[in-house]
Amino acid sequence: MSTSTLPPPASVTVSTSGLELPSVSFFGRTLAEYAQFFALDPVALRGRAVLDVAGPASFTAEACKLGVDAVDPLYGCPVETLATHVQLDYAKMFAEMRVEPHLWRFRSFPSINAAALNLRSAARRFLNDYEAHFAHGRYVGARLPRRPFLDRAFDLVLCAHLLFIYARRFDLAWHVIACRELVRVSAGEVRIHAVCGADGRRYPELAALRAELAEAGIASEVVPVNCEFFVGSSSMQVLKTASS
Ligand SMILES: C[S@@+](CC[C@H](N)C(=O)[O-])C[C@H]1O[C@@H](n2cnc3c(N)ncnc32)[C@H](O)[C@@H]1O
Repeated sequence: MSTSTLPPPASVTVSTSGLELPSVSFFGRTLAEYAQFFALDPVALRGRAVLDVAGPASFTAEACKLGVDAVDPLYGCPVETLATHVQLDYAKMFAEMRVEPHLWRFRSFPSINAAALNLRSAARRFLNDYEAHFAHGRYVGARLPRRPFLDRAFDLVLCAHLLFIYARRFDLAWHVIACRELVRVSAGEVRIHAVCGADGRRYPELAALRAELAEAGIASEVVPVNCEFFVGSSSMQVLKTASS
């Protein structure tokens, strides 16, 4: 895709029911945030094959020495195109934060301005790393629910802010297939953060999802985590096959 074909920035709508997310934002976080989202000790990642599903987090750039790969539908685009997505989507997301401040908890960041500063600099780290390492295969273009990886290729699979939060866009059937696919490529655990929708409430189809996964031999557990920048995001879902 060339930058000239990018859509214009969507206007921000004030809502009382949660974030307006008309499309999936190209918006990413840092290693420090991922450590909180997923209750991870970064040192314990060393030597393990880790897959980050859905970028553009600077997590990958920061954790690459620990063996992290990343996939996103936009990986494969020129870095200039990704920089334009970052520019448009970050502006839209921070504007939404400012009109919906009740949806944010200021513990990890003291203010929206502080969050914007930190996350924009993380985005620059991501773009630099993408430019330097796309050709080496660190960033793979792919879209859930299909992953171009062998069964059990990774020790740990992480996915933040794609499942559940975009439930208005992706239905239960999509979530079931996506979870099964994440489990297929994992030899250990899959961790998905957070377990809430764009309104900060628990994903309403969680019981149905877990029942369908159990039928497919996948154990699921909702585990509290010590972070909550977005209201309602203080838990993750952990998936494992019966054999792992
Ligand atoms: C809000 S960002 C999450 C970034 C990162 N995981 C984080 O938490 O900081 C959502 C990402 O999902 C990607 N995405 C959209 N549809 C996808 C799909 N079907 N499979 C995988 N990624 C997708 C978007 O391109 C975007 O980069």
